[in-house]
Amino acid sequence: MADETIKQNVKDKYGKVARGEIKLDELTSCGCSCGDSCSTLNMASRYDDVDRNAIPEGADLGLGCGTPVAFAELKEGQTVLDLGSGAGIDVFVAANYVGPAGKVIGVDMTEEMIQKARENAKKINATNVEFRFGEIESLPVGGNLIDRVISNCVINLVPDKEKAFSEIHRVLKPGGRFIISDIVVDGDITEKERNDASLWANCISGALKRDEYLAIIGKTGFKDIKVVSEKRYDYNLDKCAGLFSITVVGTKGSSCC
Ligand SMILES: C[S@@+](CC[C@H](N)C(=O)[O-])C[C@H]1O[C@@H](n2cnc3c(N)ncnc32)[C@H](O)[C@@H]1O
Repeated sequence: MADETIKQNVKDKYGKVARGEIKLDELTSCGCSCGDSCSTLNMASRYDDVDRNAIPEGADLGLGCGTPVAFAELKEGQTVLDLGSGAGIDVFVAANYVGPAGKVIGVDMTEEMIQKARENAKKINATNVEFRFGEIESLPVGGNLIDRVISNCVINLVPDKEKAFSEIHRVLKPGGRFIISDIVVDGDITEKERNDASLWANCISGALKRDEYLAIIGKTGFKDIKVVSEKRYDYNLDKCAGLFSITVVGTKGSSCC
């Protein structure tokens, strides 16, 4: 599938999710030679109750696969950027930590998601959040401005992951960090699965092998790359590849050394 076709399918799907017309498909895996029972995939992760109090109604659409803010060590006054912010869940959790002196910017390429996130911000009169329409591969943000980049279950949907990480590197301040929850696999995804538009939009077909994913991040120039959390789903792909949610952190080296 061409990159633009993939992105249009993703936009169409998440537009419908934002309008409440559909939920993410419930996927069932069975019959694979690696296991004889069927299992249903539910990726959603939950913030703890303290963080949940910061989330307005309608901002958690159950689309995340981790809790990146829980690993971000945010401080008052920081500037945070959330990639693929959806209805705003992680933006609102982060905004509670950076306080009125800080700012959290969410970027999403699906207009309906941006609209929904802005409505959610109004519900709680949030003054330190902003939602910008745009693409991760060409972020609507200047260079060297951001303390922390977060993202929740989105980079797997981006066809050009090297471009995504080079944009993350560009916008971070020297010494700034990213904290990204995402899906990776531990085996091969078949051509049929790679070309399945619905599996792409469900965060599966675009997932890379963990080593490949971490190699792209290293190649981009990040330091101190670590997987700080991981979870294996009870779900197997056609060739028995296992599916994982991981939360990865990395730092942009300072310009001096
Ligand atoms: C699985 S949802 C996750 C939303 C949110 N992070 C959450 O946890 O609820 C993926 C989101 O990423 C957005 N997205 C996917 N690819 C993108 C890209 N290349 N640039 C900007 N946004 C993108 C989609 O529009 C969608 O809102």
